[in-house]
Amino acid sequence: MKRDLRSELSGIIPSDLIGMVPHSFDVIGSKGRAVAVIEVPPELEQYGKVIAEALMRVQRNVKSVLSKGTERVGEYRTRNMVLLAGDRNTEVIHKESGCYFKVDPTTAYFSPRESTEREKISSQVSPEERVLVMFSGIGPFAICIAKRQPKAQCIAIELNPNAHNYCLENISLNKVGDRVSAIMGDVRQVCPTLVDGFDRVLMPLPKGAYEYLDVAVPMVKPGGILYFYHWAQRDDPFSDGEKILLQAAWDIDRNAEVTERVKVSQYSPSAWKIRLSAKIV
Ligand SMILES: C[S@@+](CC[C@H](N)C(=O)[O-])C[C@H]1O[C@@H](n2cnc3c(N)ncnc32)[C@H](O)[C@@H]1O
Repeated sequence: MKRDLRSELSGIIPSDLIGMVPHSFDVIGSKGRAVAVIEVPPELEQYGKVIAEALMRVQRNVKSVLSKGTERVGEYRTRNMVLLAGDRNTEVIHKESGCYFKVDPTTAYFSPRESTEREKISSQVSPEERVLVMFSGIGPFAICIAKRQPKAQCIAIELNPNAHNYCLENISLNKVGDRVSAIMGDVRQVCPTLVDGFDRVLMPLPKGAYEYLDVAVPMVKPGGILYFYHWAQRDDPFSDGEKILLQAAWDIDRNAEVTERVKVSQYSPSAWKIRLSAKIV
């Protein structure tokens, strides 16, 4: 039976600190080769390497252990991660719902925790639809949609060159090149060059998507759906985003009817990542 990380560390780090060893961590990759991303509390900083080595013993497919380092920073939403132990090469191929995502989590955003959300969105797409994925990262939404709905067409726009290059690789790894086009650039510049009238437009950038609603709303065809992600306070998660979304539609003489209000994941004790799905008429 696989030992848990705390048992593996007993006798190695002081017993009064064992309770602070994280129970869970993200694992990105495959059964053969994966990277773990762990948050080491400040009290355990000096034990980072021994914790990482213990993690690799209990989970044999993990070949590198990264410490989260900072919160996600900058436009690319990456972290300044630190290699605690293991292989310096942190590029892996992650398998999820029949899709393959190649990524180096130190240079491009990817979260294995969002697979359920990707599944939910891709299950809503119908044949022949045109889907625009803004802030597309290494391509997980677009590829998930294309795999599940082979008759849909997706355009994926991403600013970070590393993420865009992985997206191109992932399109070919998943053999969806006939239905996913990746464009590198700022959505503000790229969107006006596209033919509008998309059936669905996704905005998976919770920190700041609202600043691009003026670009996104015009891309949605009348009756199409906009998926708007936003950071929200726990006690009143939807009001702020809803107000911003409705106003953005009114500003260009359109209307938004919110059809779904979803708490996607908890970011901190007081903040949630939420999604508002809205029909744009
Ligand atoms: C939160 S990540 C989501 C990535 C991807 N959709 C996913 O779910 O894995 C947001 C992404 O938006 C990109 N981004 C930020 N500002 C952008 C902009 N103005 N235009 C295009 N992409 C942008 C970042 O580089 C980052 O990869």
